[in-house]
Amino acid sequence: MQTLTTPQSPDLIQPTSKFLEIDQVTKVYPSAQGDHTVLDGVDLTVSEGEFICVIGHSGCGKSTLLNMVSGFAQPTSGEVRLKGERIVRPGPDRMVVFQNYALLPWKTAFENIYIAVNAVYPEKSKPEKVEIVQKHLAMVGLEEAAQKKTGQLSGGMKQRVSIARALSICPEVLVLDEPFGALDAITREELQEELLKIWAEQQVTVMMITHDIDEALFLADRIVMMTNGPAAKIGEIMEVHFPHPRNRTQMMEDPAYYTLRNRALDFLFGRFALHTDE
Ligand SMILES: Nc1ncnc2c1ncn2[C@@H]1O[C@H](COP(=O)(O)OP(=O)(O)OP(=O)(O)O)[C@@H](O)[C@H]1O
Ligand SMILES: [Mg+2]
Repeated sequence: MQTLTTPQSPDLIQPTSKFLEIDQVTKVYPSAQGDHTVLDGVDLTVSEGEFICVIGHSGCGKSTLLNMVSGFAQPTSGEVRLKGERIVRPGPDRMVVFQNYALLPWKTAFENIYIAVNAVYPEKSKPEKVEIVQKHLAMVGLEEAAQKKTGQLSGGMKQRVSIARALSICPEVLVLDEPFGALDAITREELQEELLKIWAEQQVTVMMITHDIDEALFLADRIVMMTNGPAAKIGEIMEVHFPHPRNRTQMMEDPAYYTLRNRALDFLFGRFALHTDE
């Protein structure tokens, strides 16, 4: 595995602690044609408060990997650990946001979040739970839409509800599986900026899958690039040293941005994208 660092001076101190550990993880699915090895020996240590983006071709095993962090799936061999504890099931310390929102469409935005808060904090009083819901609706700018059924909200608003719901129970790790994949470009950029703001405020550790290299460069401290399957592994980890809070325009004016972008495209497609015709 190689690690590429931006040519710029690093303003961000590289975290070194072992918070979330993916330790020699292999995942094999049995099939009629025999065993199908999806992931083969994936190793990654994520520090508390880091923002990691995972990129790789469709079907390489990104969701499979993050499902093992969420606890929805178990490694065939190896371990995933959070603060030294082996992850064996889903839990409120690790919340997931999916591309398709996974909301109850007949319930309001408020109710969708309240149900999660109520399930995790049954001992809290009703006013306390209502306050948590309202605080998180405000965090994603949805106070006005609180009483709307989520089935009637736009895609961007639905994803705001999903993010608010995930954060309302104060997870230590936020797992996002292509959360903005279904959104138009403008809504997507707005939500990226909101997500970065929330990440900085809440100091949550994020693992996010995306197919969009510019999204990964804008958000991530490190971009984990998976090799093609079967038997995918981490091919390269790219450190993104642009300081926070990030300004998209400034970042895109920096030649280092294109060095990183080309490196990622080269990894994924085996070429330097800006020079293909030369
Ligand atoms: N429950 C399962 N049983 C058998 N095979 C599975 C299962 N889940 C995933 N796979 C297989 O594992 C491989 C990786 O799937 P996964 O969904 O992790 O890929 P991905 O990188 O997230 O792809 P995409 O970018 O399209 O979402 C695929 O070949 C898929 O068919
Ligand atoms: Mg996937």
